[in-house]
Amino acid sequence: VLRTPFCDRFALEHPIVQGSFGPWSSAELSAAVSAAGGLGSIGTALRSARALRDDVARVRSLTSAPFAVNHTVRPFDEELFDVTLELTPPVVSLALGDPGDLVARAHEAGALFVQQVHSVPAAVRAAEAGADAIIAQGAEAGGFGGSVAALPLVPQVVDAVAPVPVLAAGGIADGRGLAAALVLGAQGVNVGTRFLAAAEAGIPAAWQERIASASSDDAVKVDFAPLVFPPANRPGAYDVRPRALTTPFVEAGNADPAAVERGAAQLATELVSAVRAGRAHELVPFTGQSAGLVRDVRPAAVIVRSMVEEAERAIAAAGRIPAR
Ligand SMILES: Cc1cc2nc3c(=O)[nH]c(=O)nc-3n(C[C@H](O)[C@H](O)[C@H](O)COP(=O)(O)O)c2cc1C
Repeated sequence: VLRTPFCDRFALEHPIVQGSFGPWSSAELSAAVSAAGGLGSIGTALRSARALRDDVARVRSLTSAPFAVNHTVRPFDEELFDVTLELTPPVVSLALGDPGDLVARAHEAGALFVQQVHSVPAAVRAAEAGADAIIAQGAEAGGFGGSVAALPLVPQVVDAVAPVPVLAAGGIADGRGLAAALVLGAQGVNVGTRFLAAAEAGIPAAWQERIASASSDDAVKVDFAPLVFPPANRPGAYDVRPRALTTPFVEAGNADPAAVERGAAQLATELVSAVRAGRAHELVPFTGQSAGLVRDVRPAAVIVRSMVEEAERAIAAAGRIPAR
């Protein structure tokens, strides 16, 4: 039931993409999602060429299924992008800024290209640049994003870029979300927060436990982030703020952005070293509003399978809603 043209184009069994987690990537998670018939993503943000090469080799040793390598423009690492192309992944994805010539470069390397957007104009620019699929991500999402929610954004992007396939993102953590995305005209979903609480995710247990007990209200926009996160360094960067679970750092910064601005240089250094030391979740545990739907840590394959089965049931049930 749930095979869409996107599945055929990307050689997937299921229309489910595991969104990149940038510095918090796990080759085991990406491989598990791909092996389960979805599309796993390897992140590159703030990572080394060595880590990227190791991850790609590890995923290839675990599955022959397609996978994606993700880049962002916050910051964009030109050398690492070259390494990605050299590794010839089946799919390259980009977030947080216009792709421009990166689409053609990925195509030359034999990869399909997926662009994540948070607005209709950015979606149109990505389609014009030749993207093979577009992720329309609502403000509910974990990590960096815009201000428009998925429910209004997805159908607008579907209309604006047709016939380019659209994947819905933001707030989707179960099969009902997948079914809803398909009804909105999307051909699949890009899921982050649900997969952060996968057994293979490799993030600290304390972060996963917080996700499993959080309510949606606990995942807030970090409004002061542009002052302390690495800046975008490509033209056409999107205006974005991350969403994260509340911590004393997030609450203090949102309450007094002027103080953040005064200490910005030092905070920025602390933040990047916290990311590199695996402690960033103590400051900004990037997580979406769908945390409220996530109550357990499960193997990625179980997440994929139950999402598909539940979506099939939800679509069948919707077909029985009486109409007159
Ligand atoms: C911890 C974390 C890190 C992320 N890092 C990236 C990244 O490096 N590149 C990217 O394209 N998206 C990144 N995202 C966004 C996710 O890939 C995905 O698009 C988003 O989480 C989907 O929304 P959801 O959390 O509501 O499922 C990140 C999200 C989280 C939660």
